[in-house]
Amino acid sequence: MLVKILGASAGGGFPQWNCNCPGCQAARLPSGQHQRRSHRAKSLTQSSIAVQASNGTWLLVNASPDVRSQLEMLRGQEEFSSARSNPFAGIILTDAEIDHTTGLILLRESSQPLKVYSTPRVKQALTTGYPLFSTLQNYCGVEWFSLEQTMTLSGLEIEVFPLSRKPPKYMQEKTESEEIWGVGLTFCDRATGGILTYTPGLAELNDSIKERFEASHCILVDGTCWQNDELPALGIGSRTARQMGHLPLSGEDGSLSQLAKLATPRKILVHINNTNPILIPDSNERQAVEAAGIEIGYDGLAIVL
Ligand code: MLT
Ligand code: MN
Ligand code: ZN
Repeated sequence: MLVKILGASAGGGFPQWNCNCPGCQAARLPSGQHQRRSHRAKSLTQSSIAVQASNGTWLLVNASPDVRSQLEMLRGQEEFSSARSNPFAGIILTDAEIDHTTGLILLRESSQPLKVYSTPRVKQALTTGYPLFSTLQNYCGVEWFSLEQTMTLSGLEIEVFPLSRKPPKYMQEKTESEEIWGVGLTFCDRATGGILTYTPGLAELNDSIKERFEASHCILVDGTCWQNDELPALGIGSRTARQMGHLPLSGEDGSLSQLAKLATPRKILVHINNTNPILIPDSNERQAVEAAGIEIGYDGLAIVL
């Protein structure tokens, strides 16, 4: 299986258009070509990955507002070389968040209906609160499929498991409190035995998720915030990381110390918010993550499993 991180940042990207936090400032520094070490942080596009079985076609997992430039990253691949192809066997949505779904509208030139896989809850949100599916009807259309707990798609065995009960903001008045809004995905390539688990919106790290992580060769994990009160502390938001359905990295019950103990061969952070100090070169927080044996995801990172 080939996995490509198309975008490693959370919603807003890195740097974000209206943000001047220390990280965004570091991402805007001149490139420093003549210095031995650059203090510039690498820019990141918004949260999405692509996955391909060793003998299959590509699956797009989440469709970010940066999908157009992200797909150019896959240009060299065979599936992208025919005149007017649809290089994806399907598009899987882990939730209905704006940063994970807005790319659908940018794929409207498709010559066939987009094959979209999501939970029924997400489908309903995308036909009512944020009606992307309805909007696409007069363009390429959407052929929707329900994400089943276990399914085989494009040569990959996929398991779907609950991750978060946090609704997208645009649905917060229209939801029951116990509903599952975000899921995680485990992909297994039978031909190679490679297993990937993808959890961009991890609200808690319970035993069943830890077991799943330890049974995977690589995990792509929610790295949204370093601190729970990261946005309120910078004066740029009122909600804590936990209130947004994202377990922060730091602290005794944060994800970093728990991930550090897991035996998974590769642990990579994704969906990293621009305020997270791990994005700043040489920051103490970045060094702490690396010292814990955890990688910080970046656009274009390819993983073969
Ligand atoms: C999230 O990941 O919590 C959302 O994408 C935040 C947002 O609404 O941008
Ligand atoms: Mn997000
Ligand atoms: Zn910022």
